[in-house]
Amino acid sequence: MWLPLLLFCLLVVVALLIAKWQGNHWRRLGLEGPFGWPFVGNMLDFALGRWSYGEVYEEIYRLNPDLKYVAFYRLFNEPAILVRDQELLRQILVGSNFTDCADNALHVDQHRDVLASHNPFIATGDRWRILRGDLVPLFTPSRVRQTLPHLARACQLLREQVPQERFEAKELATRYTLQVVASVVFGLDAHCLSSRKVGETPSRWLEWLAPLFQPSSWSLLETIALLHSPRLAWIIGHRYVPLPLQHWFRDLVEARSGADNLLQWLADSKRTLTKDELTGHATTLLLEGYETSAMLLAFVLYELAINEDKQRRLHMELDEVAQRHDGSLLNQAALAELRYTEAALLEALRLHPAMQALQKLCTKSFTLPSQKSGTGQEFKVDLGTVLVLPVQAIHLDPDLYPEPNQFRPERFFNQPPLGCRFLGFGAGPRMCPGMRLGLLQTKAALATLLQDHSVLLADRDRMEVEVSPCTFLTASKKGIWLRLMKRVT
Ligand code: HEM
Repeated sequence: MWLPLLLFCLLVVVALLIAKWQGNHWRRLGLEGPFGWPFVGNMLDFALGRWSYGEVYEEIYRLNPDLKYVAFYRLFNEPAILVRDQELLRQILVGSNFTDCADNALHVDQHRDVLASHNPFIATGDRWRILRGDLVPLFTPSRVRQTLPHLARACQLLREQVPQERFEAKELATRYTLQVVASVVFGLDAHCLSSRKVGETPSRWLEWLAPLFQPSSWSLLETIALLHSPRLAWIIGHRYVPLPLQHWFRDLVEARSGADNLLQWLADSKRTLTKDELTGHATTLLLEGYETSAMLLAFVLYELAINEDKQRRLHMELDEVAQRHDGSLLNQAALAELRYTEAALLEALRLHPAMQALQKLCTKSFTLPSQKSGTGQEFKVDLGTVLVLPVQAIHLDPDLYPEPNQFRPERFFNQPPLGCRFLGFGAGPRMCPGMRLGLLQTKAALATLLQDHSVLLADRDRMEVEVSPCTFLTASKKGIWLRLMKRVT
């Protein structure tokens, strides 16, 4: 009778001792940071779907103002390092330590996800270098300029579809960016912005791609699998690109049309690509091309709706520039002159970064300075350690941005973001290669929508946008509901 109880108590004591030992991993190595709880580490609120991973990192960043980096524990009590100091961030992203932790810490199975494994964001080591090298030439200023006719056509359709009623901004933005990306990448018409006749089937682009990065009942599990656990990814059979989409993307590559699109430029490039590589690159360009830009367009519309003075300033710029260009904003020169509009986009991305943190993997052991200025010892980072670069926390740090929660495009007006204070597109050799195209397509759409309209909240009493705690890319939980009103001039 007593023996099983005694054994049980003994087991509990042993489990507690192991948990205490594991939760003090960093302290034993002389580093400061919070205690790591069994299974959840310091990410209980994320595991329970209460906070996004960016919010969890933001709190760890905020609670440790004296440390250059915080030794903490990710999910499954995995010891990790959260980097706070600007100089250290620079060294890791751009400087001498880049090669020690160049790979992103993500779990995507190369065999299950053949196409996604071609994405430079997912590829590692020398393979990353080759795959990125294929894509970078597609985004030189002159190449991006050549995409303007595609953008102008999509903007024309957008103008014809300006909603008369309240609308969900992310849904409209996704229809626009999918229309652009189908045209820019494949030379195809995605039929995302044309009025649908009764009985006509909806565009497959919309049907299959619009929900892909949106919150669903699976999102939390999928995000955990992607960021924290290859074992979980295997158990739930997680695919970054679902199988039916992988088949469809192969068909799209076959169906591509015309000479003036990204895929044709890739096919004509110096390195001969295999069919899988070409389809892999098409997948990357498509997936990276629409979602982040659509979210940015939705958020900038929202910020302008709740900051009327900033919207007035932006309208002034649109009017002035249009006047100089015979009423048209959709040409290279006019778009380049929309500097306040561009600053508004950067400021919206600062407040709502698409990726709330960058997570890098240490692939070659290197040394960090002491955690506090002037005291303590250097620390050797071991192979396999994850380094978290908390983008959202940095963007909302009052020491870097006074009154950080205020939407102030002036912060970036005529002064592009410097150093690692702004990581909306990452920084250094791994920085987003599609930044120019992403900014150009959102800027063209914003100018198209606001040239003749003002944007307002659909419901004046619903000021806050709730961010989903479950998704990998920032997404709103219940949508961003707005209204467009014809401007009176
Ligand atoms: C507003 C729109 C966009 C935002 C906010 C954005 C943001 C980002 C961020 C934060 C990264 C990670 C950088 C890092 O790891 O340091 C990234 C990587 C990447 N982005 Fe974008 N992006 C946007 C548009 C685009 C577009 C339009 C394309 C291409 C069509 C694109 C292609 C890529 C690729 C291929 C990578 C992986 C780069 C690498 O790891 O070498 N992005 N993007």
